[in-house]
Amino acid sequence: MLTSGGDAPGMNAAIRAIVRKGISVGLEVLGVQRGYAGLIGADFLQMGLSSVADVIQRGGTVLHTARSEEFRAPEGRARAVENLRRHGVEGLIIVGGDGSFRGAQALGAAGVAAVAIPGSIDNDIYGTELSIGFDTAVNNVVEAINKIRDTASSHERTFVIEVMGRDTGFIALYAGLAGGAESILIPEVPFSLDEVCDRLVRGRDRGKRHSLILVAEGVGSGIAVGEEIRRRTGFETRVTVLGHLQRGGSPTATDRYIASLMGARAVELLVEGRPGKMVGMAGGGVVERDLTEVIGRKKEFDPALYQLALTLSV
Ligand code: F6P
Repeated sequence: MLTSGGDAPGMNAAIRAIVRKGISVGLEVLGVQRGYAGLIGADFLQMGLSSVADVIQRGGTVLHTARSEEFRAPEGRARAVENLRRHGVEGLIIVGGDGSFRGAQALGAAGVAAVAIPGSIDNDIYGTELSIGFDTAVNNVVEAINKIRDTASSHERTFVIEVMGRDTGFIALYAGLAGGAESILIPEVPFSLDEVCDRLVRGRDRGKRHSLILVAEGVGSGIAVGEEIRRRTGFETRVTVLGHLQRGGSPTATDRYIASLMGARAVELLVEGRPGKMVGMAGGGVVERDLTEVIGRKKEFDPALYQLALTLSV
């Protein structure tokens, strides 16, 4: 197994599930260090039952992760396949995002039995309601919002908070709804800063003394948005870019739960001889999707959720 792309809290719970489920059905389990880079360098670790003791509560990934340029080249992939063959590896589980899934597909084309598990705080993977790390990241953002709200309220300021999500707004939308942000700017919904400012001014006129605006990184810089709001409204404005603190910390129970379920199911798929799949979550349970159906597709965005957030944050 390997973890690839940006780390996500809960990846360790998936690693633990894969190791322990694998050993329980009589498999020998190897961990690949630093994602696809470790496949090329044959950086393999024998994983025993106790190698994953005390990791379920830890953020990050004990196997480390990387974004490997070398693996994108045919020579790099050929070396990876050769290493897997030399070590007698019969199946590979990849925990990561869309880019990592493309690697799984390329290995599949080269005859490697590969199964993928969605791991990304962005929750932007098609075919699964949740990816590992999203729930923890949203909770991290809500915790930050709560803290910023205290100081925003004391000083009667407007705060802009920039959150991650790459080119999607799922973190911003869920955290904005759960944290009661006044405006949420995300790439999926066109917005006008005039409207955002009007909303702020209307709120002030109705007696609101402070406001919080969540900006997904995919729409641009929170600093620029904050500066423009200050210029247009004259309100005292501060900006916080949450950055990588969103990706750290002990995973929530939800992330540990889904990671455990998906890790175990991924092992079962390999044992059943059904590679080429992604294991996901839908309707509260584990589902399987063909990787070909998932890769490169844009995850659906629920406009009703966005509307609700706006309605509730008058
Ligand atoms: O995909 C996860 C993510 O945290 C994105 O939200 C963000 O845009 C990106 O990774 C940051 O990447 P890096 O850790 O390489 O700076």
